[in-house]
Amino acid sequence: MVSWVQTVLFLSVLFPVVVECKIRHYNFTVILKNITRLCATKPIVTVNGQLPGPTLYAREDDNILVRVTNHVQYNVTIHWHGVRQLRTGWSDGPAYITQCPIQPGQNFLYNFTLTGQRGTLLWHAHISWLRTTMYGAIVILPRKGVPYPFPKPDKEKIIILGEWWKADTEAVVNQAMQTGLPPNISDAHTINGHSGPVPNCSSEGAYTLHVENGKTYLLRVINAAVNDELFFKIAGHNLTVVEVDAAYTKPFKTNALFLGPGQTTTALLTADQGIGKYLIAVSPFMDTIVAVDKLTGIGFLRYNHTLAFAPTTLTIIPPLNATSVTSVFSESLRSLNSKEYPANVPLTVDHSLVFTIGVGINPCATCFNGSRAVAAINNVSFDMPTTALLQAHYYGISGIFTDDFPAKPLIPFNYTGTPPSNLQTMNGTRVYRLAYNSTVQLVIQGNSILAPESHPTHQHGFNFFAVGRGLGNFDPGKDPQKFNLVDPVERNTVSVPTAGWTAIRFRADNPGVWFFHCHLEVHTTWGLKMAFLVDNGKDPNESILPPPSDLPQC
Ligand code: C2O
Repeated sequence: MVSWVQTVLFLSVLFPVVVECKIRHYNFTVILKNITRLCATKPIVTVNGQLPGPTLYAREDDNILVRVTNHVQYNVTIHWHGVRQLRTGWSDGPAYITQCPIQPGQNFLYNFTLTGQRGTLLWHAHISWLRTTMYGAIVILPRKGVPYPFPKPDKEKIIILGEWWKADTEAVVNQAMQTGLPPNISDAHTINGHSGPVPNCSSEGAYTLHVENGKTYLLRVINAAVNDELFFKIAGHNLTVVEVDAAYTKPFKTNALFLGPGQTTTALLTADQGIGKYLIAVSPFMDTIVAVDKLTGIGFLRYNHTLAFAPTTLTIIPPLNATSVTSVFSESLRSLNSKEYPANVPLTVDHSLVFTIGVGINPCATCFNGSRAVAAINNVSFDMPTTALLQAHYYGISGIFTDDFPAKPLIPFNYTGTPPSNLQTMNGTRVYRLAYNSTVQLVIQGNSILAPESHPTHQHGFNFFAVGRGLGNFDPGKDPQKFNLVDPVERNTVSVPTAGWTAIRFRADNPGVWFFHCHLEVHTTWGLKMAFLVDNGKDPNESILPPPSDLPQC
């Protein structure tokens, strides 16, 4: 492994950087399309009629222009998940946070530049549950002439994991909101839109990854599922992880990837196991008492020249509740932290925050059980505004939000203890305000109020460093001593373990309003979300850019 790094260093001396940035135009037309899956047909909301949607290909420093035209009856927005959006919060996409939705018949031009990131990200709809069928890959190649910091693969492949419901997913979420009950779980897990054969529908197609013996493939694996954390495994083959969330990592070998919704993992696969057909398995992770779609999504790795009826080499999937597999995977991720790609971990902390996150219940007279499931951060369940927060902030419109989001739980309690306590939540549209360039340490503490659960937590507008994690309650005396401030993994979405905590650090170097939420859509729906408001800096280039003239109105 050391020799790779040396080779790459040597190559980067031979090929100096040519900075040449392109403008790349895309048209995303949002249309309904009838799709047949699991032996049943339904109309779904798509981009350009595709599932998964089109891939955005670009290089670092490119300017991306995506014209989104809405031809369906729903309001839509699109989020470029993980794109930093430096000063361009208007193009970030979460509905009612940075923009009003694009209404039926309208269009909007998303305009942003890819700065300081290389690797795999995803885009998805960011309103209601439309991301169940509106998602696709973003590939950011290095600048021209800059090699990867790992051996050059022969080919690259995109592998997008998803979830499929037989029912209309807008009806699923509406019913859940009315009854106060959890929404129905999905009917299948998919690989590039296909589940492979499932019970009662053996004819369902499967994704096939065609490989040539002896070649190396760069797999860009994306979890675009809605509510499920997933394992990804290929029978008989190891994978070498080289990048997550468009930040390079120290390479490490593993037989299974673990990704929460919104996370990406780029890994090298060497086709060195001999001609044949090998199972690809996408299976869920659930280590608590919450219902989950247990069906394994199936695909095949197939070597060229494999005989038509060759048997498939199978694999053992990680157990549903394989907590230790997820911990080992998470703890193996380290920033590359090389001279070219340093890990600039904030070493001082201006704001030390503790957010306790979880699901609780509130009274609800009209609901099925007289109560409804809610989710909250520091016991505040977020109320969506009807004017976008970024517009309210930029134009100084009062009465839309308050900037008093609690820095710590208002009533400390035994977060991961039983029996549950502190069930009640309050509602509010509250943000946490940060001065430009201030540094933040945030301990995200899972709680057991209703049931302890693992939460893949996503920060818009920033990458953060995951400096520590543990089970049980965070100990402010002992745990910080074990933080990794040297080469922690840098990412935009991190798993907070069930009845445990994760600590992150970031620098607020991006002015705007940035959504922070659990990336399980069910939890976002229930209110497990808030926003950071980052003020402009002193310098003009530390200020948010003016809004585009076609910004949608609410
Ligand atoms: Cu990919 Cu706000 O989410």
